[in-house]
Amino acid sequence: MEKTTTRPLGTTIRDYHSSLNDGIIALYISAFREPPWGLSFSKEQIVSEIHRFTTSPEKHFRVAMSGEKVIGISAAHTLSLEDFPFLAGIVKGKKTAYGAAMVVDKAHRENGLATSLLRDRMDHYFAKGYCLIIGRTKNPAMERVYLGLGYKDTGIRDPIYQDSSYYLLKLRRQ
Ligand SMILES: CC(C)(COP(=O)(O)OP(=O)(O)OC[C@H]1O[C@@H](n2cnc3c(N)ncnc32)[C@H](O)[C@@H]1OP(=O)(O)O)[C@@H](O)C(=O)NCCC(=O)NCCS
Repeated sequence: MEKTTTRPLGTTIRDYHSSLNDGIIALYISAFREPPWGLSFSKEQIVSEIHRFTTSPEKHFRVAMSGEKVIGISAAHTLSLEDFPFLAGIVKGKKTAYGAAMVVDKAHRENGLATSLLRDRMDHYFAKGYCLIIGRTKNPAMERVYLGLGYKDTGIRDPIYQDSSYYLLKLRRQ
């Protein structure tokens, strides 16, 4: 797998730190208010999401910065088949990571930032010996990001979020 990560000029990608919470919360709330989501998250709900990201097994929680401003978030963790039993047929017992969040600030989109964050995530789990990485979306923009990096649409729909599909990338053979 390619090891280099290209980043849009002036952007850095760093590990999550609680000092970034205000920027993360503002970005998350505004991005999911937009179509196709139309969701109104409260600050408390995002604090609880952040808690979930930071306490997930084998977490990878990264934040993209433009100077002091949070402009991107990527969170992932080990996929547990207890939470996703309908993915057992494609996971087949292999070590698998699941992308729990990917958000880019509107002013910084279509500039390769989500692609950089996803490459960073893929590199991380490849280095940890993972075989597969999976993400779920119903946003056509996110589908493009997945397909552009070689993920395949599994055609598997979420039993609860039936308008969302699961995208799969093999990180290594076997
Ligand atoms: C989805 C999202 C993360 C994409 O971030 P991004 O930084 O703009 O994505 P990239 O710049 O890496 O785009 C990768 C490819 O997808 C294309 N793409 C991204 N958004 C697109 C859009 N709205 N329309 C058309 N193409 C788009 C890019 O042009 C690029 O294609 P290319 O490789 O052929 O040039 C961003 O739109 C977002 O945060 N949306 C709201 C939150 C969300 O839906 N997150 C995903 C939750 S599952």
